[in-house]
Amino acid sequence: PIPVIAIDGPTASGKGTVASRVAERLSFHLLDSGALYRLTALQALRRGVELRDEHAIAKLAEHLPARFVGGDVFLNNENVTAAIRAEEVGNIASKIAALPTVRHALFALQLGFREAPGLVADGRDMGTVIFPGAKLKVFLTASVKARAERRYKQLIDKGISANMDDLLADLQERDERDTKRAIAPLAPAADAHLLDTSDMTAAEAVEQVLSWYAH
Ligand code: CDP
Repeated sequence: PIPVIAIDGPTASGKGTVASRVAERLSFHLLDSGALYRLTALQALRRGVELRDEHAIAKLAEHLPARFVGGDVFLNNENVTAAIRAEEVGNIASKIAALPTVRHALFALQLGFREAPGLVADGRDMGTVIFPGAKLKVFLTASVKARAERRYKQLIDKGISANMDDLLADLQERDERDTKRAIAPLAPAADAHLLDTSDMTAAEAVEQVLSWYAH
């Protein structure tokens, strides 16, 4: 079978960076599942679809004209790599991610990313729901403070102004929503390796994941 490495964890835990570097090192494909929820959120925003219209949101997810080219994300022919990273889009993504019909609509799409020679899948439920048979499951954590600092730095590096208190509040709100939702709540799989990256560099985390994979 085609091997899958599932990397799950809370917001700003460093999953994205670690997953993409691990994929690069192994020449594996990469699934950024959060991007699918963000793309659905962006479509909903643009089309003015109300968040409580679950059926309409699920339709958007089901017919998502998403394409991943290199590190870029496209909706039809538009490069939306930067647009889907907006905080507003992330917040809506985390709300619609609690809708069972939306998760269901994105299920098959995610399975399709499993292609030879292998896949690194990054998200919240990669090891628990989407790829329960993954060869390696990693659950990345980091303290709220470490995660808020990382998010702060990311935003400042991109030239976006940020406020630490707002970021902390937003992070805690998102954690709460992701862990308390009824469907696919954020939690490590029973057979996941836990990795607390609070005091680790991304490079160290990557080496740890690769070493688990090799053994
Ligand atoms: O960057 P951040 O970790 O905040 O977000 P992301 O990984 O891009 O995911 C955006 C939102 O989608 C998260 O807040 C989750 O609520 C949701 N999500 C999910 O429910 N399941 C996944 N497999 C991936 C993301």
